[in-house]
Amino acid sequence: MTSDPQSGIIERAKRVLPGGTFGNFPGDIVIREGRGGRVWDESGKEYVDFLLGSGPMLVGHAHPEVTAAAQARIADGTTFFANNRYGIELAEAIVAAVPCAEQVRFVSTGSEADLYAMRAARAFTRRDKILKFEGGYHGMSDYSLMSLAPKRPGNFPQPVPDSAGIPRSLRDEILIAPFNDLQVAASLVREHRQELAGVILEPLQRIIPPAPGFLEGLRRITAENGVLLMFDEVVTGFRLAYGGAQEYYGVVPDLCTLGKVIGGGFPLAAIAGRADIMAHFDRGAVGDDGFMMQVGTLSGNPVAAAAGLATLAILQRPGAYERLFATGRELMRTLAELLQRNRIAAQVTGEPPLFDVVFSPEPVRDYRGTLRGDAGMLRRFNALLRERGVLKGEQKYYVSLAHTPEDVRHTRDSWDSAIKALAT
Ligand SMILES: Cc1ncc(COP(=O)(O)O)c(C=O)c1O
Repeated sequence: MTSDPQSGIIERAKRVLPGGTFGNFPGDIVIREGRGGRVWDESGKEYVDFLLGSGPMLVGHAHPEVTAAAQARIADGTTFFANNRYGIELAEAIVAAVPCAEQVRFVSTGSEADLYAMRAARAFTRRDKILKFEGGYHGMSDYSLMSLAPKRPGNFPQPVPDSAGIPRSLRDEILIAPFNDLQVAASLVREHRQELAGVILEPLQRIIPPAPGFLEGLRRITAENGVLLMFDEVVTGFRLAYGGAQEYYGVVPDLCTLGKVIGGGFPLAAIAGRADIMAHFDRGAVGDDGFMMQVGTLSGNPVAAAAGLATLAILQRPGAYERLFATGRELMRTLAELLQRNRIAAQVTGEPPLFDVVFSPEPVRDYRGTLRGDAGMLRRFNALLRERGVLKGEQKYYVSLAHTPEDVRHTRDSWDSAIKALAT
């Protein structure tokens, strides 16, 4: 038996990385390179890639225009701390595209963007509490790691911390509501209006679309009570539409966060929103009392900004979103048909640019609905697909503009054979 050429580097990782990983993805695969909609691991095995770097590579890996834009900047120096033309142009592009965006502040990760959006809501309203939804992901800050993935969900609105190391005192600052239940969220907003700074949510929560009227209702109830509405668009920004989920679903928040796509595969994220709220990043505008401290060494990095601008230019071309959605729709339809044909109770849920299957007989409306899915079956399915050369995240297929009809065919054949293996 020949050993996997990848196994040596996997063993080396185990010695120097806790758990043998960067913390993101299982360490039993080491990716060597990516091109278009495919990646190769260190043993040379090729995959159709729906992991897509966890979302940033919407136009595909190593897109020649994005690569050229980044390379051109690298030759002129990679970071300055001071303003640079590319970051300013990217801010202009975001303001032009995203309905709520009057001004932009750059950071390096989505986690930071969410943390500062919540801080901005507190600074603006001078209140402390934030309402989030059970199962909603807003990065890794102490505030966000509440009821993201509770094994034993608690009683609403009490948060359940997701991690060791979260101060107990923070539990009093977060209220939790079930996604897609407007009545519960509305009564919490009304009851806590004196102490509630904002409501934060993923408008498409993981792969669960908003129920009709849910986002509109949240917009109305927050506005009526003087509470800010924040959309975490780190995933949905420039993906569901050029203007993000707020364009796609037609509901405009007060603030949003962006990440992933806007950095073109480099570390870059942003907070964007109403100018009167964004003014709290500017001591000159709001004075010492209202000023929110925010500094980051790599914020607005020119290489990342240039890669982001090149990515947005590709997305702006006529037909880009139509193609992305056509590929995603075909994939979703094919997967649902194959599961049905093999009599496996399952829901294919999401939107065409990102979706997955939940092995449950009932439609999924919220986090607890996801928990009713058969997680073991999903793990087995994902493993069978990986053997067949299809790579994806634990609970998400990210579709790329670079996925070709051949990629779709390979995926369909892999699904077909993996589903048959699952059913036996
Ligand atoms: C909705 C959402 N918000 C925030 C984040 C955090 O972004 P980052 O990993 O860049 O910190 C993620 C990451 O996947 C995300 O999916």
